[in-house]
Formats: sequence, C-alpha cells, structure tokens
Amino acid sequence: QAQTTPFKIGLILPMTGQQASTGRQIEAAVKLYIAQNGDTVAGRKIEVIVKDDVATPDVTKRLAQELVVNEKVNVLAGFGVTPAALAAAPIATQSKTPLVVMAAATSSITEASSYIVRTSFTLPQVSVAMGDWAPKNGVKSVVTLVSDYGPGNDAEKFFAERFQLNGGKVIDKLRVPLRNPDFAPFLQKVRDAKPDALFVFVPSGAGAAVMKQFLERGMDKAGIKLIATGDVTDDDQLNDMGDGALGVVTSHHYSAAHPSAANKKFVEAFQKANKNMRPNFMAMGGYDGMRVIYEALKATGGKGDGTTLLEKMKGQIFESPRGQVLIDAQTRDIVQDVYLRKVEKKDGQLYNVEFDVIKAVKDPGKNKQ
Ligand code: DHB
Repeated sequence: QAQTTPFKIGLILPMTGQQASTGRQIEAAVKLYIAQNGDTVAGRKIEVIVKDDVATPDVTKRLAQELVVNEKVNVLAGFGVTPAALAAAPIATQSKTPLVVMAAATSSITEASSYIVRTSFTLPQVSVAMGDWAPKNGVKSVVTLVSDYGPGNDAEKFFAERFQLNGGKVIDKLRVPLRNPDFAPFLQKVRDAKPDALFVFVPSGAGAAVMKQFLERGMDKAGIKLIATGDVTDDDQLNDMGDGALGVVTSHHYSAAHPSAANKKFVEAFQKANKNMRPNFMAMGGYDGMRVIYEALKATGGKGDGTTLLEKMKGQIFESPRGQVLIDAQTRDIVQDVYLRKVEKKDGQLYNVEFDVIKAVKDPGKNKQ
C-alpha cells in the first residue's frame, strides 16, 4: 500500500517578486533532474508541488504548514532566502519532515531544526576564501558592503575577521537594506573612504545593479577594486553586465564554467531544456538537492518516512557538477570545494573562470562558540 502512494516533495520557492530568478533557476533544475533520472524511485512516483512564497516568511510558514498537513508531503524543499528557511524550520521539527535548503545560505539555518539538510552553501564558507586571497593580492584596505540580513551579516563578519587576521584594514562596514536597495549613497561613501577594494555581498538577482552603479560612479577608475562573493557575478546575470565586469575576482562554490565533464554535461542539458538560460549556483543547489532526496529514498527502499529519510540524507558523498561534495552527518550542512574565480570572456561570453581552489571546506560558522 505505502509503496504505491506517490512520494511528495513540497517545493517552496520565490517564483515572483525580487527573488524570482532564484525560483526560476531552482524549478528548472528540479525538472531537469527528474527528466534525467526518472519520475519513479524505489517504486514510488515522485510528485513535486511548487508553491510561490514571494520570499515572504509568513507566507512560507503558511505554505509549509499546508503542504505538511493537507498534502502530507514527505519532504519540504527549496527556500530562496534565509528568513523563509527559518520560518519553516519549526514545522519540519514538529512534523518530523526533512527540509532540504536548496538556496538560503546563512550559517545558522541548519541549527534551526535537526530535520534541515542543506545543498546550497554558507556565506562564511565562501567569504573566508576572499579574506585570504585579497591581502595576498595587493588589497591592504577595504570597505565592506552587504545586504542587511543573515547572509550579509555572515559575509561581513567572516570576510572581515579573516582579512584582518591577515593584516588587512577594514575602514568601514556598510549595510544596505534588502528590499529595493539603492546602492548610490553607499557607493559615494566608499569613494570618499578610498579603500583598495570594496567587498560586496548581495543576494542572487541584485548583483547586476551593484555592478552597474559601481561602474557608473567610476569606482574602478578611482582605483577601487570590486571583490565579492560569487552572488554578485551571478551566472544568471553576468553575461548581461558588460565588459566593465571583466577582471572582477570573487569566491564561490559554483561557476557555470567549472571545467569538469559532469558540469559540461549539466550546463548543456540545462541550457537545452531552458531556452539557453545559463544555470547559476541556485540551480546547482536545486539539482543536488534532488539527488540527495532521490538517493535517500532509494536507500530506504521506498519507505520514505521522515526520520529514516533524514538519516539516509546524512553522510551522502557524490560528484556534483560543482565538484566533490559531502553532506556532513553531524551538521547536515554541505562540505564542498570553494573556488577563486575571475570574470573573463570565453567565446564572446562573460564567465567566472576558476583559477584556484580550496578543497573540502566545512562551514566555518559551525566551529564558533
Ligand atoms: C541568500 C539568498 C541569496 O539569493 C543568496 O545569493 C545568498 C543567500 C539567503 O537569503 O540566505
């Protein structure tokens, strides 16, 4: 009986509003994974129910509740922003439903429920790499500019701590509102402070606006370098940013230009299925999230009860298109390679071209306190 009922995945994503590109990328990746791996796993038909939360936590919470109570979903997945993931966490705990975070990236999210597993990344994971790279490459002073919420605070803290540890000077720390940000007054402050570089984190979808205003204000010509997490040179937008983006160095866990056979295959298939849209790091989190769910369901022989499923998600190791990854059994967070990348032109298109790698990085946020 149980084997013949469908296996339901409640996929909560921002499909409209400021974070809509995250929803579009993840939904496309989930569909691709199913098209490539079949819609039946261990005898269970996979049913994905997509719900748009507009990245608004109250809505996320209501949708998660409805999906668990009315639809009896086996897994909750998606979660485009940190406040959305945190809002759904208590529902995962109470209902013993595994919750796979495919996008949101504040370190503490996995500590909000023991039923949370993450396949995206954390901001401390990628920001520390830039805190090591910059001072070794002529950047002695910085101003940081981050979106004023969880991931921005993580990026600011972990970048600045490491940068200072390496002898760098942080002149100022600026925080810009998440909703409808106007970067102009902040960039003026940065210009006046004249640091060697500006370090930026903004969420996926906001990078192009930062780049545009950075260039319009002639910051680069004033001798201020732009350095950032890869959220800024987002593959979803990078190719439309223009040649002003050339040379920008970022640290991140995924580039569409990652030179592996698995990634070439992934990018080609994704673009073919999506009118040539280039997959970004959000798509990667969604694709690998589906893999973690599929493999866990296989390992339970199709039983799929929440607690057993969760146990089978922990400790998974596999080669992702981004590189080798591990779901740390203790923290339920992803351990992965972090790359330093530079924007370059390849075949007439802008890409984040990887030039260095730090292998198997655990979330540094988990080692604190
Ligand atoms: C988060 C959202 C993003 O779009 C991103 O690039 C990184 C983090 C977040 O809200 O956690």
